[in-house]
Amino acid sequence: MIAKLDELRAKALSELDSIDTSGGLEAWRIRYLGRKSALTEIPRGLATLPLDEKRATGAAANELRAFLEKTLTLKEEVIREAEIARSIEQGRLDITLPGRPANLGRLHPTTQMLRHICDIFMAMGFEVVEGPDVEWDYYNFEALNIPQDHPARDMWDTLWMDFETEDGRHPMLLRTHTSPMQIRVMEARRPPVRVIVPGKVYRYEATDATHEAMFYQIEGFAIDRNITLADLKGTLFEFAKRLFGKERKARFRCDYFPFVEPGVEMAIDCFLCNGTGCQLCSGSGWIEILGAGMVHPDVLRRVNYDPDVYTGFAFGLGLERMLMLKYGIDDIRLFYSNDLRFLRQF
Ligand code: FA5
Repeated sequence: MIAKLDELRAKALSELDSIDTSGGLEAWRIRYLGRKSALTEIPRGLATLPLDEKRATGAAANELRAFLEKTLTLKEEVIREAEIARSIEQGRLDITLPGRPANLGRLHPTTQMLRHICDIFMAMGFEVVEGPDVEWDYYNFEALNIPQDHPARDMWDTLWMDFETEDGRHPMLLRTHTSPMQIRVMEARRPPVRVIVPGKVYRYEATDATHEAMFYQIEGFAIDRNITLADLKGTLFEFAKRLFGKERKARFRCDYFPFVEPGVEMAIDCFLCNGTGCQLCSGSGWIEILGAGMVHPDVLRRVNYDPDVYTGFAFGLGLERMLMLKYGIDDIRLFYSNDLRFLRQF
């Protein structure tokens, strides 16, 4: 049997010598190492041999297989190099041609801005928390002082996907803002709380240059003893300075949201005209960037925070609008229309 293996080795090597194409090499591999090769058949014929001979033949067959496999790898290398050399000679391969550049992806501008804003707030001691895009009516509206039939619901119409159980229908929707996370976080924690919540929100909008039906908001809120409107102003003015630069001025004006009291809107002076008035700021010199206010005592009571002990502020900003302001982009729809000429600029 051993002699037969030696014969096989000699035959395989001499055939290998004359092979010079990868097709020929593959045929050789199948012949000598394939499933139906003589080498694979040998162990099957060992059963009838005495134990000693069986061991010796098995070991020799394994050794031969390892040897042929190694020889095959070396030969593959030689043939590959020869084939490349041949194709250069025949002029089929121009090795002076520059390679194809690898197409590197990049982060979407909204992701870049989202990370930048989160970094600014994290440096001020805020923690980042995320919440569900699909929300109960209770968290999106009821718990935020917006009961059924409240006119504020008209501003925030969305897609509904009510959920039915034996107890009846439970209204469920794509969240219209990130404010429901105020309630979820406060239900789960005791003050002090300092959190920001980035995420997608959805509205039933006729889209235009400044309105999308799906966009990002970042919610922020802080609850503790002795938090005042001055803390809200200090935090947001510092944020605006870090995002838009030291030279930008910021202002607060009264606004109304059912879940804060008092409510404010914050604006920065227009970066295009420096506050003198232009088309971008509709002649006012100011551009609104977010809504904010002091968390309403009824909202605090609903999550079992005592409003005589704890106070807090909350704010909500539109992420795409921040990008539009920072880079002078005049149409929000550009962010999600997948135009690479636009996206590659970031
Ligand atoms: C709110 O959504 C409140 N939840 C914000 C808030 C939070 C107030 C906490 C008080 C306390 P508003 O609907 O104004 O408010 O939206 C907030 C921001 O989202 C706007 O200032 C704007 O920047 C952005 N925004 C609103 N609608 C759209 C839209 N359709 N497309 C893109 N951005 C939008």
